[in-house]
Amino acid sequence: MKPAKLFLLSTTLLGATLYLSSVAAGENITPKALFEKKCQACHELDVPKSQKLDKNGWDGIMSWMTSMGGANISDDEALIIRDYLAENYCP
Ligand code: HEC
Repeated sequence: MKPAKLFLLSTTLLGATLYLSSVAAGENITPKALFEKKCQACHELDVPKSQKLDKNGWDGIMSWMTSMGGANISDDEALIIRDYLAENYCP
């Protein structure tokens, strides 16, 4: 009986650890990684990377891209990506 209980306990702990580390990974995703994950769902990353826009310009692109069905980008994520793009792909 004992070893079985121990096994059960350790798998529960492992499960909890895996769950927690995946939650943490979600929160710690960098703006760059978020951009790369979300913005190549429909086209190459070269499409945005070849543009140079200011914050307003990227704001417009973000509204455009997120208004298309299936983009799956939350408002918070859109702001993070916009700031990242405005900082790295600016005129
Ligand atoms: C739901 C699909 C989809 C997603 C997700 C998406 N795009 Fe697009 N994107 C498009 C389509 C379709 C076009 C082409 C529009 C056209 O020119 O007709 C486009 C074009 C663009 C363009 C060129 C605009 C222009 O002036 O021609 C940029 C820049 C761009 N996307 C940036 C992004 C960024 C940044 C992201 C991530 C936040 C993103 N896209 C995510 C569908 C998507």
